[in-house]
Amino acid sequence: MKLIDGKATAAEIKREIAQEVAQIKAAGGKTPHLAAVLVGHDGGSETYVANKVRACEEVGFKSTLIRYEEDVTEKELLACVERLNKDADIDGFIVQLPLPGHISEEKITEAIDYRKDVDGFHPVNVGRMSLGMPCFLSATPAGIIELLRRYNIETKGKHCVVLGRSNIVGKPVSMLMMRKGYPGDCTVTVCHSRTQNIKEICLQADIIIAALGVPEFLRGDMVKEGAVVIDVGTTRVPSDQTKSGFKLTGDVAFNEVAPKCSWITPVPGGVGPMTIVSLLRNTLLAGKKMIYA
Ligand code: GUN
Repeated sequence: MKLIDGKATAAEIKREIAQEVAQIKAAGGKTPHLAAVLVGHDGGSETYVANKVRACEEVGFKSTLIRYEEDVTEKELLACVERLNKDADIDGFIVQLPLPGHISEEKITEAIDYRKDVDGFHPVNVGRMSLGMPCFLSATPAGIIELLRRYNIETKGKHCVVLGRSNIVGKPVSMLMMRKGYPGDCTVTVCHSRTQNIKEICLQADIIIAALGVPEFLRGDMVKEGAVVIDVGTTRVPSDQTKSGFKLTGDVAFNEVAPKCSWITPVPGGVGPMTIVSLLRNTLLAGKKMIYA
């Protein structure tokens, strides 16, 4: 079994991005600028957004954090999106999800100018991704694909089983794994909460991408010898063994599954760190007008 080290790979990509930003600045170009909108004080969202802002600083981007209280109206948030759409200094921005129940996430996402949608959540970017056109790829699927690429993991003709059908991971990553070229060219099966015989299907998989959000769902007896396992789960499970009072737990029972794998991602330190660099890469591409002029 070999570990796919997302932390080290993310650090390497951050260095590459920082180098490129330094070159852009030295040549008198515009510093890439990411804005993040955070509504409320959800612990997870606070941490994610703080990490995104810190990552921007690390690579030399400009970043702007815009905060609203939980009771912000949908109208106010739409006005904020409109301002950011129009602000020529902002290359890309994100509205951290989830949003409070009285605000439509769909409405907000659709209001974002797709040319600044560095989260890759806008229907135009999702549609272009599914057609194989240039677009902003959403962070987690792009991070998974980049890990497979950097570790030269064979995908052509392999059976890839995706566990989960979410809009932000399961659906897009299944499209990417079946597209022509590398990484891709897989035969893809998508399993979800209503799938029958999940164990039998997983046992046929050369590659398993677990993105259900069910801690330790994938057990040792569900994986064939030599499989590649990508764990996207990041559930905060209460723990008295950590300072924070929770333990980040993946969708894979690592101790059981790892001995059977050729390659596996750990949690934490696997897919997680890659998601932020995907966002940085999209922001860099947005700044350079590489996807949309
Ligand atoms: N919430 C969880 N993941 C994400 C993400 O990648 N982007 C945004 N905007 N919200 C999230």
